[in-house]
Amino acid sequence: MIIAIDGPAASGKGTLARRIAAHYGLSYLDTGAIYRAVARDVKRAGGDLTDAAAATRAARALDASTLDDPALRERGAGEAASIVAGFAEVRGALLDFQRAFARKAPGAVLDGRDIGTVVLPDADVKIFVVAEPEVRAQRRYAEMAGRGEPVTYARVLDLIRQRDERDRGRAEAPLKAAADALLLDTTHLDIEAAFEAAVALISRKIGQ
Ligand code: C5P
Repeated sequence: MIIAIDGPAASGKGTLARRIAAHYGLSYLDTGAIYRAVARDVKRAGGDLTDAAAATRAARALDASTLDDPALRERGAGEAASIVAGFAEVRGALLDFQRAFARKAPGAVLDGRDIGTVVLPDADVKIFVVAEPEVRAQRRYAEMAGRGEPVTYARVLDLIRQRDERDRGRAEAPLKAAADALLLDTTHLDIEAAFEAAVALISRKIGQ
């Protein structure tokens, strides 16, 4: 079974995808980490995130064993990822890796922005996770403040709105629900309730 989970920044899709993968005994790939890693490698090579050639080089040379690098969770890493993610060549260079990962037994859950629309249009189940920007900002703010990061709620909300706009507005593989995606609004759901709602959607879709 292959499950595609897409949605905007801080919608809770990563936590959800990880839990769904564990529940069904599937592998899990956080595709956001791939774009974060490309941005990290461009910066480490002394390049500019807006340089398509440098970003493409980094995407082609990406070492998938570095995707759990804590540096990918640092402040600004998501924003940096969304800059390199706008280049068609970068996205193209990362497609085979994502598809090969999904095809391997026993199947997989991939989460990102374009999994149901571009990477795995034939996925068995597609879920598009949404939540109000204010709620996503509150969750992200609580997470960052909990780590002792000096940040304000207003700043986090601002960054989330900017990233939504960039991810939705880009020409290449913009963030949008696939026509056959199941919508899951987590605005009023905690992780547990969102997980239960997702399992109910999946069960209905695969007829179990
Ligand atoms: O999901 P995460 O916040 O880690 O993603 C970081 C950025 O990577 C996103 O804002 C988006 O621009 C990009 N991304 C993408 N396609 C994906 C996953 C992430 O363009 N499948």
